[in-house]
Amino acid sequence: MKSFKNKTVIVTGSSKGIGKAIAFVFLKHGANVVINERNKEQLNAIKEEFKNKGYHPLAIVGDITKPQNCKRLVNTTTKQFGRIDYLINNAGLSMRGRFENINAEFFKSVVDANLMSGVYCTQAALPAIRETQGSIIFISTIASIHGQPNMSPYCVAKIGLTALAQSLRIELAKSKVHIGLLRAGFVKNYPDKKVLYPDGSYVSIKRKGHQTAEEVACAVLKMIRKKRFMMTLTLLGKTTSFLQCLFPGLVYRVLCKTQHSKWYE
Ligand SMILES: NC(=O)c1ccc[n+]([C@@H]2O[C@H](COP(=O)([O-])OP(=O)(O)OC[C@H]3O[C@@H](n4cnc5c(N)ncnc54)[C@H](OP(=O)(O)O)[C@@H]3O)[C@@H](O)[C@H]2O)c1
Repeated sequence: MKSFKNKTVIVTGSSKGIGKAIAFVFLKHGANVVINERNKEQLNAIKEEFKNKGYHPLAIVGDITKPQNCKRLVNTTTKQFGRIDYLINNAGLSMRGRFENINAEFFKSVVDANLMSGVYCTQAALPAIRETQGSIIFISTIASIHGQPNMSPYCVAKIGLTALAQSLRIELAKSKVHIGLLRAGFVKNYPDKKVLYPDGSYVSIKRKGHQTAEEVACAVLKMIRKKRFMMTLTLLGKTTSFLQCLFPGLVYRVLCKTQHSKWYE
């Protein structure tokens, strides 16, 4: 089994949800873990929480929709640990809103958070990851199998991640850098999980979900260990992926029929 001892991993957006679970699983496996998010107080609170469990991640605050912050994230990590083995592009922004109600600025901010953040971090970390022949993982969603109603900018960004991962996989084939695209299913969210609406408000969502953040984190480790390119999680994800390949018209008709259901609220 692949050991993560002495390996260095950056997990973007790791103060909550899936990112926090990924950071924790790497800490438990002995890796040097770098945690990140935009809010200093929240990040320090998570660092403290991990410290109380006996783990000591390096916390680097920064909004990674800004390329200079991604460079700083990478440079500080290299300075501290001398290497980067894995970059987990996890940070993202959930949203709801029909296309007609979304202005250009809102659309761009969602694409920046879910796609460009991964572009900037990958560009900054790639030279170091080439040296270690490590992994670059993109945390995507089963909502990228087919554009979904009520979340067009989110789907644009996540489908964009698929294209980015595919292009990188080809360009880096000879370098032995591993590229992974993880399409997670709907996660059982923590109690104060919020999504952004076009008026700028953050609203709590209550959704049962089909898997836990910890299950997604374990899938990331498996993906790295087995150097898998794509993993689609949950029965819903696997079924949708299968149907989209063989019966795309059926997927379209189901989405049309269900677009006003509670599921997309
Ligand atoms: N939850 C699901 O059901 C689900 C399903 C499939 C895929 N995913 C994907 O999994 C990833 C994590 O989702 P989640 O539900 O765990 O999200 P979450 O609970 O909303 O947490 C997102 C994390 O990213 C950080 N973040 C957001 N924008 C950032 C930025 N510009 N710079 C730095 N950090 C930033 C957030 O911290 P601050 O906002 O405080 O900075 C937070 O730590 C996302 O890419 C999401 O699309 C989620």
